[in-house]
Amino acid sequence: MAQTTAQSLHTAIHTLREELAGAFAAVTTQADAESFRITYLSRNGKVAALFESMKSLPGPDKPVFGKLLNELKKSVEATFAEIASRIEAASASTASRVDLTLPGRTLPLGSIHPVTQTLNEIKSIFVAMGFDIADGPEIEDDYHNFEALNFHPHHPARDMQDTFFVSKDVLLRTHTSPVQIRTMKKQKPPIRTIMPGRVYRNEAISARSYCTFHQVEGLYVDKNVSFSELKGTLVAFAKQFYGSDINYKFRPSYFPFTEPSLEMDISCFLCKGKGCRICKQSGFLEVLGAGMVHPNVLRNVGIDPEEYSGYAFGMGIDRTALLRHGINDIRLLFENDVRFLRQF
Ligand code: PHE
Repeated sequence: MAQTTAQSLHTAIHTLREELAGAFAAVTTQADAESFRITYLSRNGKVAALFESMKSLPGPDKPVFGKLLNELKKSVEATFAEIASRIEAASASTASRVDLTLPGRTLPLGSIHPVTQTLNEIKSIFVAMGFDIADGPEIEDDYHNFEALNFHPHHPARDMQDTFFVSKDVLLRTHTSPVQIRTMKKQKPPIRTIMPGRVYRNEAISARSYCTFHQVEGLYVDKNVSFSELKGTLVAFAKQFYGSDINYKFRPSYFPFTEPSLEMDISCFLCKGKGCRICKQSGFLEVLGAGMVHPNVLRNVGIDPEEYSGYAFGMGIDRTALLRHGINDIRLLFENDVRFLRQF
């Protein structure tokens, strides 16, 4: 670097003062202000550089320039303070400049998952009939999922539902029926409750079955609850949910926790009972299982089967959601791909 002389330092101070006027005018944003600060006031900035070059002045000149440079530094600091307050004022006034005539910004709206839509419809039908809604844990114990429901430890019916075990006694519930047990333990009859929720089965995954799906359980316990009331309720539900023009049939069935038990088929709502690929040409779709609550189950929860009787039913909702929307792969319901979900 060239030797600093009184003359050269003078010129440098003068040049910097001129430059500052332009730089001050050019600052309009917060970022400009910051680069102004770095250029002039930081430790490696231009003002510091002048202080540095003063060191090589001849001794007698130093005090004079020390004073000049201190003044320069003060005035740059004052300029910077002015810049800062100017920017603050500008941003405050933009904030208050609201154009009320601008059209509103529309937020991207989500859509309701087809399973939730189906579930909401089922809920509203049963709520209108006087049912409450309850839920229970998805991680269950053997007692609630099987034993209290009259599945004895070596009962072959345990094999009807392939179970995911967490440990010997803890499992992912294979159906919503354990919530029947929890509800009856908490509440004395009359009980009239539906219990929707997610269930898990260790099944081979394919377009038609998945390791998790949803059920709605129904339970009605009171004095003199009859099998014909069960059938009447199921028919009333099916006509509201699937359409008043459907045909239905009841088939005898077996569940350890109901006796007698039935399964309900409704005429295929796609081919109207004529026979198609979905109903495997039978014209009917199997939609639910049901029956009268087994006296052993009532005893297990401390309800006297001599005094009370009840019915229970359980239905899967995912397959119905698929059929209603013409979706051909159950796995789509669980992947949460927005390109799929956005269509509903
Ligand atoms: N829990 C049975 C199933 O998952 C359905 C059912 C519920 C049957 C209630 C009868 C009564 O297959």
